[in-house]
Amino acid sequence: MTMGWIASELMAKRVYREHIPVLLRESVEFLIQNREGTLEQDGLYVDATLGGGGHSLHILSQLDSDGKLYSVDQDWEAIEAARERIGVDPRFVPLNGNFGYLDSLMPLETHGKVNGILFDLGVSTHQIREAERGFSFQDEGPLDMRMSEESGYSAYDVVNTSEFADLMRILFEYGEERYSRAIAKAIVEARPVESTGELRRIVESVVKGPKTIKSVARVFQAIRIEVNQELERLKTALDACIPLLAPGGRIVAISYHSLEDRTVKTFFKCGNHEGRIEKDFYGNKNCLIEPLLNQIIVPADEEMKLNPASRSAKMRVAIRTEKEI
Ligand SMILES: C[S@@+](CC[C@H](N)C(=O)[O-])C[C@H]1O[C@@H](n2cnc3c(N)ncnc32)[C@H](O)[C@@H]1O
Repeated sequence: MTMGWIASELMAKRVYREHIPVLLRESVEFLIQNREGTLEQDGLYVDATLGGGGHSLHILSQLDSDGKLYSVDQDWEAIEAARERIGVDPRFVPLNGNFGYLDSLMPLETHGKVNGILFDLGVSTHQIREAERGFSFQDEGPLDMRMSEESGYSAYDVVNTSEFADLMRILFEYGEERYSRAIAKAIVEARPVESTGELRRIVESVVKGPKTIKSVARVFQAIRIEVNQELERLKTALDACIPLLAPGGRIVAISYHSLEDRTVKTFFKCGNHEGRIEKDFYGNKNCLIEPLLNQIIVPADEEMKLNPASRSAKMRVAIRTEKEI
């Protein structure tokens, strides 16, 4: 197989580039194992971020013939690729939609019966490597960054139509970028900004020296989070887990930046977004969700070496308590 053949095949079929699943064994183990250490192989599971189907495939390999897996993605390309990869399996149900609406995506008869929900957040390698999706600052592409083609709000809109103050806030809040004011000013002055390359060059013109590349990455991350409303959707998705999960059901969340991880950590404390610990009359903890693990799990050195994209991954696990809603 020559490189030329592979390139033309990729262009002709828009082949889904393989995403290496992160913390695969660890995440699936926590997902399907109950508090007593028994594997619930006939259980009902949700993979809220299907992507290339790596985690879904492994979950299916751990389930018996009575198990069931609903896998969600807002990106049609991911759904199509995973469907092809996993093939016909009566236990597997792909769902196209935003996990922010997980409760309405899931059939009513599954509510209160789900044994585990997995979130492997962010974008897939496929999405990053497809230059025309506009996620990557390494390639020249349009300012897009939408995970779902159905969304009407793209990176072009954020970059070219946001008020200066909003743009600065987006770069500061979602990118934690300290030069957000100067970068926002340079973007506004350079409008219209048409491509990822132009955006990168604007950031490079403001932040010089060894810090440049980190600022470029932070600006792209911030705009992607804004385009896809990532933190808002994550919050509503976590809320939706409560009525879906059976008592003892688990949420496993793998995040890739501090804003996501903070959102997950806060919610896992007691099932609300303020991190408030509810107490009963006697002062005992009284939460619908509580952490199953108190520490985070990160990839082993070997995994990071094999898959550098896993370097920033942090996994947290929570459990649905017995408390009634
Ligand atoms: C890191 S990838 C998942 C990779 C997958 N676990 C695998 O191993 O192949 C994240 C996926 O989640 C999807 N995604 C992100 N946010 C979403 C949301 N709010 N609703 C639905 N899908 C979302 C993205 O489109 C992407 O395909």
